[in-house]
Amino acid sequence: MSDWDLLLTDARLATVVSDEPTAMIDRGALAIADGHIVWAGPAQELPQGRARRTIALEGRWVTPGFIDCHTHLIYAGNRASEFAERMAGASYADIAAAGGGIKATVAATRVASEAQLLANAALRLDALLSEGVTTVEIKSGYGMDRDTELRMLATARQLGEGKPVTIVTTYLGGHTVPAEFAGNRAGYVELVCGTMAEVAAARLADAADVCYDPIGFDREECERMLQAARCAGLPVKLHTGQIAAQGGGAFAASYGALSADHVEYLSEDDVLAMARSGTVAVLLPGAFYYLRETTKPPVELLRHHGVPIAVATDHNPGSSPLLSIVLAMNMASVFFGLTAAETLAGVTRNAARALGLLHDRGTIEAGKRADLAIWDIGDLGELASLIGSRKPSMVIQDGRCVGRRADT
Ligand code: NIG
Ligand code: FE
Repeated sequence: MSDWDLLLTDARLATVVSDEPTAMIDRGALAIADGHIVWAGPAQELPQGRARRTIALEGRWVTPGFIDCHTHLIYAGNRASEFAERMAGASYADIAAAGGGIKATVAATRVASEAQLLANAALRLDALLSEGVTTVEIKSGYGMDRDTELRMLATARQLGEGKPVTIVTTYLGGHTVPAEFAGNRAGYVELVCGTMAEVAAARLADAADVCYDPIGFDREECERMLQAARCAGLPVKLHTGQIAAQGGGAFAASYGALSADHVEYLSEDDVLAMARSGTVAVLLPGAFYYLRETTKPPVELLRHHGVPIAVATDHNPGSSPLLSIVLAMNMASVFFGLTAAETLAGVTRNAARALGLLHDRGTIEAGKRADLAIWDIGDLGELASLIGSRKPSMVIQDGRCVGRRADT
């Protein structure tokens, strides 16, 4: 007879192992031991076992804990004045070219202490966690000098300590060229390549990201940084296809990238290459909304060729100050036409894949981490049908019940 730490009964399980209705188990049970799911399936097939604690969920839905696989959660300052300029007609690229945008946040972040960065980011993280998020990716990229980039990554690591979340860090030195290197782009690329090795050796970064778009770097510059990442043993991902069509999907695929993010400008050749390399298309509808973009990611082509689609908040102060993963799901449906099953897979299974963590999380299966969210809804379609403010009634992280509403 097995010994379990926690047994969930009378549950409806959205296992998310596929987008098919068979991935749903109507009368299910789920057993947890040592922080992992050890059994999940139809209640009548539950093997004999002894549970230290049992929670009857009265038919509530259980999903994997949500994964926000693309954020820039750590930064100082805000870009409210820039928002006003954009509403008056300036474009995101114009503001960036005039020295605002990302560079404005870099200036504020460089002078912020680790304590300030941590306090600001903790509030943002709490907003995500309140919606059932249990894994968050955080990028650097607002330092663009060695010390501030390292400080951002160290802050991200620290942010996770003592909170019911896994933080995954990404070194985004290749975000854009900082003002002091305007006349020496190659010098900045060299600096990024050197820092790449350092953040990998210090285990400060789990992956590297570069921006292959007109506000970032050209192909040759990206090649140098991606090769440095490869030498440092860091998996890569790209910001690409946010502003222009330049073959970013195929370029990402040629480096075996975990993901290509934004990808609103994406050709069929890009999609085919991504399908072959297993590169996830991470859709960021918050940035699409906030920048009033009109070119949409080619969702039908992605579906047709079997490219996994993830959805993330892209939380950042300039293009997507969004702190709600369920609103990102809602926007992915409204703007891009994703189905309810696709938006759910987008913040679970495919988001895990975009972080290289699918072996460990993102679905409800024996052997995976017991990161779960429990929802008091009748139908899974209700998750993203409200505009904001859908909260789980309970969250289980690493096998422990970490949040429970009073009425549950
Ligand atoms: O993912 N290359 C774009 N980078 C961010 C925006 C960062 C910012 O504007 O501060 C993005 O949208
Ligand atoms: Fe981003």
